[in-house]
Amino acid sequence: MEQAASIPLVALTAWQALVEMANLKKGQKVFIQAGSGGVGTMAIQLAKHLGAVIATTASEKSFVMLKDLGADVLVDYKKEDFESILKNYDVVLNSQDNKTLEKSLRILRPGGKVISISGPPTPDFAEAIGASWFVKLILSLLSSGIRRKAQKLSVQYSFLFMRAEGKQLQEISKLIEQHVIRPVIDKVFPFEQTNEALEYIESGRAKGKVVIKLK
Ligand SMILES: NC(=O)c1ccc[n+]([C@@H]2O[C@H](COP(=O)([O-])OP(=O)(O)OC[C@H]3O[C@@H](n4cnc5c(N)ncnc54)[C@H](OP(=O)(O)O)[C@@H]3O)[C@@H](O)[C@H]2O)c1
Repeated sequence: MEQAASIPLVALTAWQALVEMANLKKGQKVFIQAGSGGVGTMAIQLAKHLGAVIATTASEKSFVMLKDLGADVLVDYKKEDFESILKNYDVVLNSQDNKTLEKSLRILRPGGKVISISGPPTPDFAEAIGASWFVKLILSLLSSGIRRKAQKLSVQYSFLFMRAEGKQLQEISKLIEQHVIRPVIDKVFPFEQTNEALEYIESGRAKGKVVIKLK
């Protein structure tokens, strides 16, 4: 049950970013930020299954685990600048701050795609969720800077907010049953320690998922 609980959010996020939006293909180069996090551990395994070449950022203590999951190029974000190492990438899965997002645009080849799960949201996203004209206007202003920079570099910027999708979960379940993807769980907390679990997540140090057990 712990393993099952750890899957949907991160696996659907990885699927919607890499399969649905990026249409990641065999041989393409993808940069997945924070490979040791919940989304990162899932996205690396899915990208490997799709046949991509994977670069990721993490601290050195996670390198063995990340190689084991399928990462090809490992960048220690505490000591190295990924922008000076990675060139001509096809896809970036961005999950960090604005500075990292801007740098990510510059490692893409022309026509490459950056999909951000940490913002800023775009007017296209507002359209997709049926938001009002006012929300669309706000999101247009919020994302105008990054969209302009992406356009200048001839790359695409998109925002993803994961949605529930049963059919995709069925595909993901098949990959888990075939041992192509495995759940990565850092810690399981009893329900009574929910506050401690949230504090641990907020520390930004979790390796894979943190699960709360009800019984
Ligand atoms: N839009 C959506 O639908 C959606 C869905 C899911 C998640 N998210 C968002 O995506 C982000 C990532 O979520 P998550 O659950 O994967 O995070 P997480 O599990 O909390 O990430 C923790 C990991 O991030 C690594 N890390 C911390 N700072 C880093 C940096 N500067 N560069 C590279 N790695 C770094 C840490 O590695 P070390 O311990 O080695 O330092 C740790 O392993 C969050 O902002 C979350 O809210 C959005």
